[in-house]
Amino acid sequence: MIKRLLLLLVAAIIVMYFMGCTDRYETDLVRKSTTPCDSTGSYLKVQAIINTNCSNCHTNGVSSGLSYKTYNEVSGAAERIYERCTLPQSNSQFMPQNGNRLTDCELKVIKNWIDAGTPNN
Ligand code: HEC
Repeated sequence: MIKRLLLLLVAAIIVMYFMGCTDRYETDLVRKSTTPCDSTGSYLKVQAIINTNCSNCHTNGVSSGLSYKTYNEVSGAAERIYERCTLPQSNSQFMPQNGNRLTDCELKVIKNWIDAGTPNN
């Protein structure tokens, strides 16, 4: 009787283990398929990335004295923006300061925009 219970328990643990795996697998699939990377560079996309990740400090230059909310401001600082965002997160110059690293896709958008000559598009 005890042997049977033990067997059942082991079987239950094995089933739960595999269910856990499929769960993780499915989440990975969903994550991948809902975030395809369109890394084409354009000013509007770069400005949107900045609005989301940098505007706390870089709109009206509130905390940094540096404003990134117009085409001239952003295109003028494009290379510095890319450099700061691709530093190791442990570097004190890393941007967004005290924030999370931009995604690879966002970094590619900025890079492609710079390589295209920072057009106003
Ligand atoms: C928490 C506030 C904060 C956030 C968020 C932030 N920054 Fe900054 N940033 C600063 C401060 C303060 C400075 C000035 C000190 C320095 O140079 O590190 C600065 C400086 C910079 C510089 C250097 C400018 C120059 O002329 O040398 C760049 C480029 C920059 N930030 C880009 C960004 C980008 C891009 C983001 C978003 C991905 C961002 N920052 C997010 C606070 C912030």
